[in-house]
Parts: sequence; structure tokens; C-alpha cells
Amino acid sequence: MSDALWGGRFEASMDKLVEKFNQSIDVDQALFFEDIEGSLAHVTMLGDCNIISQEEAQQIKDGLNELVNDYENKAFTFSSQYEDIHLNIEHLLTERIGSVAGKLHTGRSRNDQVAADMHLYTNKKVKLIIEGIKKLQRSIIQCAEQHIDVIIPGYTHLQRAQPILFAHHMMAYFWMLERDKERLTESLSRINVSPLGSGALAGTTYPINQQQTKDLLHFDSVYPNSIDAVSDRDYILETMNNINLVMMHLSRFSEEIILWCSHEFNYITLSDAFSTGSSIMPQKKNPDMAELVRGKSGTVAGNYIGMLMTLKALPLAYNKDLQEDKQAFFHSIETCIDSLTIFSGMINTMTINKEHIVQTLEEDFSNATELADYFVHFGIPFREAHAITGKLVSECIKKNIFLKDVPLAHYQTIHPEIDEAIYSILQPKSAVERRTNENGTSTQSVLAQIKSGKSKLN
Ligand code: ARG
Repeated sequence: MSDALWGGRFEASMDKLVEKFNQSIDVDQALFFEDIEGSLAHVTMLGDCNIISQEEAQQIKDGLNELVNDYENKAFTFSSQYEDIHLNIEHLLTERIGSVAGKLHTGRSRNDQVAADMHLYTNKKVKLIIEGIKKLQRSIIQCAEQHIDVIIPGYTHLQRAQPILFAHHMMAYFWMLERDKERLTESLSRINVSPLGSGALAGTTYPINQQQTKDLLHFDSVYPNSIDAVSDRDYILETMNNINLVMMHLSRFSEEIILWCSHEFNYITLSDAFSTGSSIMPQKKNPDMAELVRGKSGTVAGNYIGMLMTLKALPLAYNKDLQEDKQAFFHSIETCIDSLTIFSGMINTMTINKEHIVQTLEEDFSNATELADYFVHFGIPFREAHAITGKLVSECIKKNIFLKDVPLAHYQTIHPEIDEAIYSILQPKSAVERRTNENGTSTQSVLAQIKSGKSKLN
């Protein structure tokens, strides 16, 4: 007979490569605590429902708690011989409390067991991601408030478009993250569902109490269908996609950080603690953290597609393919949490090179829209004002001057009533402060925006 825990009907023992290929303990040992938690709830319920005696239930609980201690003291190692975390724990429990350990698996299958573990794990990690998002949002708000007086060129097509508050630009990322947080929070109702009691797929003949295990594990509800309960991995895919969105946002943010700290932009300087050097070029200080986050956003997108492909066309109910739901998922989760933490530190410690930014704004045409709008005040139709301004810009480029350098007399040829006020209109500050609409870039609007952002962080 095979010595595997399920080996009753097997005469020969397992091929070595099959053992290696079949095992998942390398990866699913990350579920140790969730598995113990699930087993503690299950065995409590078995005792309360008189499926096993209270004494036996207590013995099993003591054994499981002892295992937690031993785990923390590194008193044992897992073995691929016992395939996965569930069978390793059962084996270790048997070593400690003897054959009564065999009663733990009454009215349960590894199929509902692993599903319960994954639900507990996902719930815990999604909450950590939400916390990570909040932390980064706080860093963004703090940075926006600290630099509320900094004006930068806003870009479209990566060409200078109109002056904006740096704080306004930063807050754009706040709201992307806010949507991510909302999505993750909403997903909790689908994550927090108990599959326990579904057994292998059909339910169980034992008089179990599924409401009790649900309550003990703080799930919100029980799956209405046992077949769906053991084969559903939608919540994993959903979480991976929510992670994709977070990472995609961080990759866009990364790209800007990378540009901003280049010599060409020089808008910010990253702290040494969040940069790396070059092994050959002594002058280099590289934004590796932002680059890694940008790169890892690609890896987690691949992880998502991998999971989708694993699930596609799977027949009901449990299939061993589902064992593949872990490695890439765990990786995506950890990557997302670390990326959020790194980003928050990077924002908290970066310097904004205000003098340089002010200087660059003096030398561009991002005030051209202001000029066109100003002409409109004199009754010139906007299309015409646009064309006149475009022509002025073209003349300036040829003469290597800027709109503020055009003499008043020349402006007066466009309309005789134009006066000195035109030069204050051309100031970036004026362009910013006149955009007082509720989501505009004026200081007053951005301060209101920050206030409403803060209210989302309670
Ligand atoms: N290691 C398995 C997994 O992660 C546990 C469930 C195994 N169930 C089974 N019927 N072989 O999916």
C-alpha cells in the first residue's frame, strides 16, 4: 500500500518525479495560519455538533495550537512527501496527538479546505493592500499640501500644454488610487464567503453547522451552492485584476517620476535611500524603484492572464489545475503591497526643485491658451483668436522670444484696447488661479479637492 494519507487503494508508491510535480507545499506553506484557523473552526463545530466528542475536539485543538508554537519556533520542516500544506499539517498533528488527529477531516474535503484557506488569505491580503493604498494617498496629500504654491507645466502628448499646480497633478493619482480602494473594498463581499461544509463537491451527510464555521471565521455568508463553492476562483481573478489596476496606476506614476528626475526635466530629486548607483558610471543616481514598479506592473498583468487561462474551460467541480491558483497570485499580492510601501517612502522623501521649475515655465508657450482667451474678451471669435495666437507663437519661435516679450504696440495691432494687463494674463500664476471651476487647477479649487480627499481617508 502507498504510504500517502490517501493511499488506501494504491498498491505501488508514487513515482519520484510525480511526487515532485504533484506537490504544492513549496508554495502553499504560505497558507499555514489560514489552514490552522480553518481547522480550528471546523473542529470546534464538529465537537459542538456531537460529530466527534468534546474531548476529542479539545485534543485536536490543543495539537493544532501546539503546531502553531512549533512553527514559530521553527521546530519542524514541511516535506514534499506530504504533498501540500493540508496533508503536512495533518501528518504533523498525527505525530503529536496520535490517531485522534484522523478525526479532524470528518465532514471535510481538501477541496473545501483549500478554498476556505484561500478565502481567508485573500481577505487578509486585500485589507493590507487597502491599507497600503491609504498610506500612499496620505503621502500624496502631504506632498500636495507642502508644495501647494508650485506651478508646473501640464502636458498633453508629452508636450507642454497649460500651467497647472503640482499639487493638482499629484492629486490626480490620489483619485486613481481612491477608485482602486473602492474596487478592492467592494470585492470583499465576494471574497468573504465560506465554502466550508461543501465537502468534495456535493456537501456532506454529517449533521454539520455551516453557519457556525462561517461565524467563527468571520465570513459574511456561506456559498449557496457546494459545487460552485469548491471550484470558484473568481475572487482570486478579481483581486488580481484589481491589483493590475493599482500597478498600472503606479506604473504611470513611476514613468513620471523617472522623467521628472532626469537631467532634462529636473523637477524632482529622489532621496538617496530610494535610488541606486551604477557600477561603472560614478555620476549616476538611478530611479530603480520606480523602474522596478513599472516593470513589475507587467509581471502582475501576466500573472492575471495566466490565472484566467488556468480557469478557462475547466469543468466543474474541483480539478487539480486549481492548485496552480497560488504561486502567481501570492506573488502579485506581495508585489502590490511592497510597491505601495516603496512608493509612499519615495514620495515622502523626494525634493521638489521649485526654482528650476519656475525657471522652465518662463521659457515656454504654455500660456498661449490664456492669450487666445484674452483676445476673446475683445469680441474676437475664439477660432480667430486661436489662429492669431498660433501665428504669434510661430513668429516668437522664429525670433527666439516668448509671448511675454512681444511689445505692447504689436499686441495693439490685434485690438487697440489691449493694454499692459496682457502681461499679467501671461503669467503662469494667472493661468492657474483663473481656473476656479470645482475640479480646476486654481489654488482654491485644489485646496477644496485636498479637503475632500482627506475625508476619504478616515
Ligand atoms: N493542494 C491542493 C490545491 O491546492 C489541495 C486540494 C487537493 N484536492 C484534491 N482533491 N486533490 O488545490
